[in-house]
Amino acid sequence: TYVVTDNCIKCKYTDCVEVCPVDCFYEGENMLVIHPDECIDCGVCEPECPAEAIKPDTEPGLEKWLTVNAEYADKWPNLTVKRDPMPEAEKFDGETGKLEKYFS
Ligand code: SF4
Ligand code: F3S
Repeated sequence: TYVVTDNCIKCKYTDCVEVCPVDCFYEGENMLVIHPDECIDCGVCEPECPAEAIKPDTEPGLEKWLTVNAEYADKWPNLTVKRDPMPEAEKFDGETGKLEKYFS
């Protein structure tokens, strides 16, 4: 599966949802996640994210993010259409430690 990671938080560009063939993105207040049981591993969303927040879970060190994606995909509503990015997306793009500071 692919997972959404830290840099989506407070950016939420949503270009990813437009290209996903199985509509497996779910939306929280500040971040999207991918449902790991629904993602078919096609990889088309990865290069579409302007924040480079989407990664294959085969990359080392992403266990934490896989857990976050799995847990919240079951709680948050499905998002299938692109929205405007968050108002301060450019400012928050690249900031570190966003999970601890702003996750919701
Ligand atoms: Fe959707 Fe493919 Fe991205 Fe999985 S890898 S979330 S199926 S676009
Ligand atoms: Fe987030 Fe990137 Fe999608 S910032 S909403 S994963 S395009």
